[in-house]
Amino acid sequence: MGPVRSELMWQAVADAVQIAGGGALLDVLDLGGGTGGDAVRLAQLGHRVTVVDPSPDALASLHRRGVEAGLDAPVTGVLGDSADLLDHVAPASFDLLVCHGVLEHVDDPGQALSAVATALRPGGHVSVVVAGRHAAVAARALAGDFVTAQTLLARTAAAWDIRSMGPRRFVRDEVDELLTARGFESIQSQGLRVFADLVPSAIVDTEPGAREALFDLERILRTSPDFTGLSAGLHTIARLDLTSASPDPGGNSATL
Ligand SMILES: C[S@@+](CC[C@H](N)C(=O)[O-])C[C@H]1O[C@@H](n2cnc3c(N)ncnc32)[C@H](O)[C@@H]1O
Repeated sequence: MGPVRSELMWQAVADAVQIAGGGALLDVLDLGGGTGGDAVRLAQLGHRVTVVDPSPDALASLHRRGVEAGLDAPVTGVLGDSADLLDHVAPASFDLLVCHGVLEHVDDPGQALSAVATALRPGGHVSVVVAGRHAAVAARALAGDFVTAQTLLARTAAAWDIRSMGPRRFVRDEVDELLTARGFESIQSQGLRVFADLVPSAIVDTEPGAREALFDLERILRTSPDFTGLSAGLHTIARLDLTSASPDPGGNSATL
């Protein structure tokens, strides 16, 4: 098993593929797919994968990773972002859109998800992972920074300024509202990494069996309502309404 964090993130992708396709080969867009850790694994399973990312360095790493993996059909890497996504991909051209760790960084999460909805075929699925605000509060409090913990607690995702405050943090209701407003129905909501980001890696890497035990614990906790609100990653798999055609509740001015 690789690092617990990346294995848990891969499980989130694997769940989405299963729900979206049930074993069929899919057209998958990984928005903000970065260096392609998930994208290359998806391509190895036979899915047709496109990564759109604004980082040329990440796309170069993605290319290298694909070559090293000896892919039959390479992952298509596109330099772009959530704001200009529809300049690069055709509407209604994907079965599954993976958007993991990206809405924290974009100027307008609502606009990003409207573009996602347009890129998906009707009935297609999106897999969203965002950073949880309550986990950030807990991390700051455990570090003794109680003032920042309180500030984070009070700041909604809609009021978040990523330039002064760093990556945006969300609570579950905010994610659900963003998706519902764009014609998505939530199919599965889970918590990712309740403890994985908090446990010192020295313990996980050196104690025999610790990595597997932590992975098993996280797999149990991800559906526990008592714990998911505290997880570092909030994962949602949602299906686009079959009748949806380019939903855009507020045009480019909509934030949340
Ligand atoms: C935290 S990394 C996540 C990478 C990958 N999705 C994962 O789960 O490991 C954030 C990625 O989002 C990309 N990104 C930043 N702003 C973006 C935007 N506006 N649209 C799309 N991707 C963006 C970054 O270049 C980076 O590759």
